[in-house]
Amino acid sequence: MTLEIAVEKAQNSRIDQVDFNNIQFGKIFSDHQFIAEYDGEKWTKTRIVPYGNISLSPAISAIHYGQAIFEGMKAYKTAEGGIQLFRPQDNWKRLNRSATRMGMPEIPEEVFMEGLEELLRVDEAWIPTTKGSALYLRPFMFATDDFIGVRPSDTYKFIIFSCPVNAYYNQPLKVKAETEYIRAAEGGVGSAKCAGNYGAVMHPTREAQRQGFNQILWLDSKEHKFLEETGTTNIFVRIGDKLVTPSTDKHTILEGITRDSLIQLSRSWGIEVEERDISIDELVEAFDKGELKEMFGAGTAATVAQIELVHYQGKDMQLTNLDQWEYYTRLKNAMEGIKTGSEADPFNWVHKVY
Ligand SMILES: Cc1ncc(COP(=O)(O)O)c(C=O)c1O
Repeated sequence: MTLEIAVEKAQNSRIDQVDFNNIQFGKIFSDHQFIAEYDGEKWTKTRIVPYGNISLSPAISAIHYGQAIFEGMKAYKTAEGGIQLFRPQDNWKRLNRSATRMGMPEIPEEVFMEGLEELLRVDEAWIPTTKGSALYLRPFMFATDDFIGVRPSDTYKFIIFSCPVNAYYNQPLKVKAETEYIRAAEGGVGSAKCAGNYGAVMHPTREAQRQGFNQILWLDSKEHKFLEETGTTNIFVRIGDKLVTPSTDKHTILEGITRDSLIQLSRSWGIEVEERDISIDELVEAFDKGELKEMFGAGTAATVAQIELVHYQGKDMQLTNLDQWEYYTRLKNAMEGIKTGSEADPFNWVHKVY
C-alpha cells in the first residue's frame, strides 16, 4: 500500500440492526466512508471515518452547476471468505473520463483503489452472502468551491460509501420507448456518469412509471428512432440467433462494464454480437415476425434484467417464454458465477481484495 489512510472507526456498529434477508436497495449504509479532498493541486486528507452527514457550504458549485459524477460497483464474499470486486479499474477509468468531460480533476489510481480496498477491509462484515446480494459501492466526486460564478471549481471531494443490496429489479421490466423527451444528444454528456443525466430523466421516468412502466427505453435525440439504453442499464436484443446492442460510438450512452462483459462472454461462446444502430422500426418488425426472442438490460445494480414488454406509440410488444430465454439465463448465471468466485474467470475480470 502506498497511500496513507487515517482510519477512525465507528464506536458502535449498526450492523445488528440490519435484516440481511430483507434489504431495500440503497437505504442501508455500512458503518464507514472513505473521503479524499482535492485542494486545487493534489488529492489530500485520505481517510476513513464513520458514515454520517458532512458539513458543506450552501454555495458549493456541485449543487448549483452540477459538477458531480459517480460510479456504481459491487463487492462479493467468496465461499472461501475472500473479498472480491468485478473490473474495478474499469470503474476508475470511467470515473476519470466523466471527470474530464465535466472539467473536474482525475482521481489517481491509488486513491481510488486503495480507498476502496481499505473501506472493504474495515466494513467486511457488511458484505452480504445470500444469492444475488452484494455490497454496492458508490464512489463519487463533486465540486466544493463556495463561489457563485460559473467556472470549474478548484476544490473537490471524493467519497466512497457502501450499501448491502439485493438485485435492483426483482421482476421482468416493462419499458416505454420515449418519443417526446430525450436523455442525451451527440456532443453532450450522455456517456459521462454525471448527476445531471439522472436529474434530467426524473420527470419523464416518473410519468412513465405512473403509466405502469418500470423504465424508459431512450431513443436518439435527432429522430427518436434508434434505441439507446434505459435509465439504469444498457440494452441487448436477441433477433433470431444474433445479439444486438447499440454501439457506444456517438457517446450518447454509458459505456457499461456489464455491457462489455456480456459482449465478450457471448462472443467467447460463439454467439454473434453486433454493436450497431437498432431502430425501433427494426425492433417492431422483428417482434411482428416472431424473431424478437429476448431482450434484457445490463448494469451493475440491475445485473442482467429481462425486459418483457416494450411499449411504442400505442403498441405493446409483449415477449413470451420468459422462463426459457437461453442467452439471458446463460449470461446472468455466468456473470453471477464469475463475480462471486463460484465459476472460473477466463477474462481475469475479478480483483481479489484478499
Ligand atoms: C444510464 C446507465 N446505463 C448503463 C449502466 C450500466 O453500466 P455498468 O454496467 O457499468 O454498471 C448504468 C449503470 O451504471 C446506467 O446508469
